[in-house]
Amino acid sequence: MSNATDWGPLGAVRKQSPLLRAAADRYRETTPFENLTVGVSAPMTPHTGLFLDVLATGGAKVLATGEAGSTHAAVVEWLQERPRITPLAATEHSRHERRDARREVLAAEPDLIADDGANLLSLVHDEFPDVAEGLRGACEQTTGGITRLQAMDNQDVLACPVYDVNGTPMKQHFDNVHGTAESSLSAITSLTDTLLAGSVAVVAGYGHCGRGIARKLRALGARTVVTEVDPRKALEALADGHDVRPMAEAVTEAEFVITATGRYQVLRDEHVDALADGTVIASIGSAVEVDREALASHATDSDQPRPGTTRYRFPDGREVTLLTDGKVVNLTAPNSTGNPGEVMDTTFAMMIRGLVALADGVSLEPGLHPVPDDLDRAVAHEKLAAMAVEIDDIPDKQRAFHSEWAFHDSSAVE
Ligand code: NAI
Repeated sequence: MSNATDWGPLGAVRKQSPLLRAAADRYRETTPFENLTVGVSAPMTPHTGLFLDVLATGGAKVLATGEAGSTHAAVVEWLQERPRITPLAATEHSRHERRDARREVLAAEPDLIADDGANLLSLVHDEFPDVAEGLRGACEQTTGGITRLQAMDNQDVLACPVYDVNGTPMKQHFDNVHGTAESSLSAITSLTDTLLAGSVAVVAGYGHCGRGIARKLRALGARTVVTEVDPRKALEALADGHDVRPMAEAVTEAEFVITATGRYQVLRDEHVDALADGTVIASIGSAVEVDREALASHATDSDQPRPGTTRYRFPDGREVTLLTDGKVVNLTAPNSTGNPGEVMDTTFAMMIRGLVALADGVSLEPGLHPVPDDLDRAVAHEKLAAMAVEIDDIPDKQRAFHSEWAFHDSSAVE
């Protein structure tokens, strides 16, 4: 990697990323990706720029695509100057151009894929079956991508092994719960200039992201209402002290509706007439959760009072504001960079460890696989060490006691 003065738009992120800096130092020596091509799909943010640079430092030829709304032009420009990296993302890319860019990545016949949303993996199986057959493997970092890959695995169409990086404890408990909540709430407040304290905030979905958002909202003084389709998640939300209601009821008094499900049309036509006047709507899960067409078709008028906001006026005088056209708010709001650098450091460190294992030729059948727990633990230990936080070891006697399956005299432990 270059010296610190060359870091341009990645400078601040590099400081927040001790694990990626350490990976660069390690892999500069061992070059695990020598002679390999890595295809990447990821929001083209400064964090991703650093991730791509570490792959290239480890010897990879890297081709990377991203979505127009989350692409940072300065990062693309910086990457264009880097050896072995071809960024194929642009802020003005149309849907068509974005698909062409993904095709260009796959036409380079990558050996490995680092995916986000299964964008490259679904296309490679659809249009480039020979390239799919030749892949050593892939890593996927998002919940939405894993949902698609699970469907592919259920139909036995995956031609290579894929590590479910999203399913690791480090990703779910750190990135999804904390990173997404903080970056999403800060994007929402900076777009709207509205106070969360004392507001009624509806969170759709009480999975990892929704749970983090609801908890942080409440910590800020909001009155939280959760909507769910899973009865166990609904009970968990109640036990955590949130109100739980169906969406049709919740929207009637919502000041904020934040969707965190990754699912199609969670806020849809049937809810529009019930939305309270002044509601702010945002998605953090995916671009399909809010039915934007339904809002537009009920409205008599709309405008963009501030960048990243669309205000719809309905015939009865109500107004609601949709943020970033219903696209993922913490990645597409003006000046947003997605999750904070500290969590992207661990998520990308995990992606790199998975890619290194696949590059090394780890023996795995085609299909979706959990990341081995020792890799997840190694990342956690490394992060703690970087934070200078120590934890206890498990003493031999304790380990032996709990590995014993034969009958214990319980009086010994009473
Ligand atoms: P998860 O699977 O842990 O949680 C999703 C929850 O939504 C589940 O509890 C499910 O029962 C619930 N749900 C499904 N349909 C629903 C409906 N119609 N109404 C209400 N609840 C419903 O997933 P996780 O990890 O929380 O991710 C959620 C979404 O956020 C995914 O699309 C993921 O890709 C995305 N994500 C976004 C990030 C960002 O930075 N913006 C970062 C991490 C994930």
